[in-house]
Amino acid sequence: MCGIVGYVGRQKAATILIEGLKRLEYRGYDSAGLAVLQNDGIEIAKKTGRVGNLVKEAKHHRFTGTTGISHTRWATHGGVTDANAHPHLSSDGKISLVHNGVIENYVSIKKFLSARGYTFSSETDTEVLCNLIAYHYAKEPADPDQSRFVTSVRQALRHAEGTYGIAVISPEAPGEIVAARKGSPLILGVGDNEFIVASDVAALISHTQNVVYLKDGEVVHLTPKDFSITTLDQEDVEAVVDRVTWTVDAAELNGHPHFMEKEIFEQPAALENSMRGRFSEDGSTAKFGGLNLGPVEFRQIDRFVFLGCGTAWHACLVAEHLLERFARVPVEADYASEFRYRNSPLSGNPLFFVISQSGETIDTLGALREAKRKGYKVLAINNTVGSTIARETDGGIYQHVGPEIGVASTKAFTSQLLVGAMLALHVARMRDMSFADGVEYVNALKGVPDLVRRVLEQAPRIKEIALRYAHYSDFLFLGRLSLFPIALEGALKLKEISYIHAEGYPAAEMKHGPIALISEKCPSVFFVPKSEIFNKLVSSIQEIKARNGKTIVITTEGCELPPGVADEIITIPDCHEAVLPIVATIPVQLLSYYIAVARGCDVDKPRNLAKSVTVE
Ligand code: M6R
Repeated sequence: MCGIVGYVGRQKAATILIEGLKRLEYRGYDSAGLAVLQNDGIEIAKKTGRVGNLVKEAKHHRFTGTTGISHTRWATHGGVTDANAHPHLSSDGKISLVHNGVIENYVSIKKFLSARGYTFSSETDTEVLCNLIAYHYAKEPADPDQSRFVTSVRQALRHAEGTYGIAVISPEAPGEIVAARKGSPLILGVGDNEFIVASDVAALISHTQNVVYLKDGEVVHLTPKDFSITTLDQEDVEAVVDRVTWTVDAAELNGHPHFMEKEIFEQPAALENSMRGRFSEDGSTAKFGGLNLGPVEFRQIDRFVFLGCGTAWHACLVAEHLLERFARVPVEADYASEFRYRNSPLSGNPLFFVISQSGETIDTLGALREAKRKGYKVLAINNTVGSTIARETDGGIYQHVGPEIGVASTKAFTSQLLVGAMLALHVARMRDMSFADGVEYVNALKGVPDLVRRVLEQAPRIKEIALRYAHYSDFLFLGRLSLFPIALEGALKLKEISYIHAEGYPAAEMKHGPIALISEKCPSVFFVPKSEIFNKLVSSIQEIKARNGKTIVITTEGCELPPGVADEIITIPDCHEAVLPIVATIPVQLLSYYIAVARGCDVDKPRNLAKSVTVE
């Protein structure tokens, strides 16, 4: 939520900042703004709405400076107004700040500052922090060894409670940026006599692949020539420069109208990447380099707990199903946001897994910290190298699907399903699964990119169906066992990008309440794969048809549906139970995408949402 970019170097800052904001816009799009240090002071432009509005506004300014900061906002404190847009400027004009996060004690700080003559022109917590830095800047005598500017930022942050990723400039410190983080991501791009600090690699990848992942409590001081990192307590930190493996192409549309479409169609390749190098030489199990857990420790685990939010929670539910089914080990899947406050009694020797694409979701991070506080080992299934979750867990499995930019998660989700299926195999083979069953399972996993390709080939037909159903305002998604979470995912996908009310249910639960919704006005998307409960699924569809409900049935090859139960049929390949959830996800992704496009929705930036949810 919220994206920040800061630039210091030799080029015109405004151009680089706006380019960076465009790449970070998925993090929030309520307003955007930039501030540049000029020869004669500071120049600020900000505007509600998308970065496009800022670009128009920026034409009325003459941005010539080579140092600046910028922001794209997902509103928390204060409405969506020009005044609440970032960057903010302290009332004495000495400090300008962009911020991603929430300053929780801003009310008491504001009172303190108001009593000392500072004034405020917005309703934001950020403007309070900006003035707090200005207060310390005015008050602190410069330490002969330290820049007064950096010292004042550190002083202010020691009093700030909450979360922040910030970038700060001052007209009195030309060519300098101070940036810091606690609980919100911040990455430093190290170029040739230029530096970019940003919330996400996407904003800096076109300039450099050399990055430093800043840690909580670190403050970085940038000049065009150099950078130095210290802690809030002024201790020096030795920077570790990493190399980002993906290139700028991964963050481009490459001819697709939306990132969501691009990412849906990237799934065969993304799944290949998630699997690469992760099968044993005898081809009977999966292996992972980063679990930091040997087979003996693994065998001692008597329960797995999976935690995540939104789509990632749906991946947790599928992992629960597969681990219980194939590894015969008890599993619990919980919303990270609930787990962290519920204080559930934990006994025995559980192993925790958190699942998160971004690795920055605050609820998931909170749950991870709570489990660690209680002394449990926590691993992650995560797509973002260097993310906070990656750093704070005791190990884990990277998804390797490249950046996911569409707000609606697609390729990251199917990759999480795949990694969960591989983990189930890994554990199952340490327990009761035979070599032969292991080999069959591995072959099924290796075949999944092709199966997904085959479903993607049906996109034109799924689009036709979508066009016939785009005008409905309510949908049910129904499935059982491992496809119940996919029903939840289908409903979430549809509602988040098309604003259509949709609910996911286990199919047999329908008769316990949701059946009251069934009418010709509420279509059901029904998963009916080949399985031992096929006949029961068919009975549930008959119950819908008996009440004039329309049905879009997603079934597997070779299934014979009785005549008249399906208004629309989408057939997916018959496949191994471990990969069925992945293959069954593709039609609901496409259906939601085409319905949203038909309704004229902005699929990559749905209203009220942001890609990475870094506030509670
Ligand atoms: O980055 P994470 O995987 O932790 O994100 C979790 C959810 O916020 C995310 O999956 C959200 O539900 C997506 N918008 C779903 O498409």
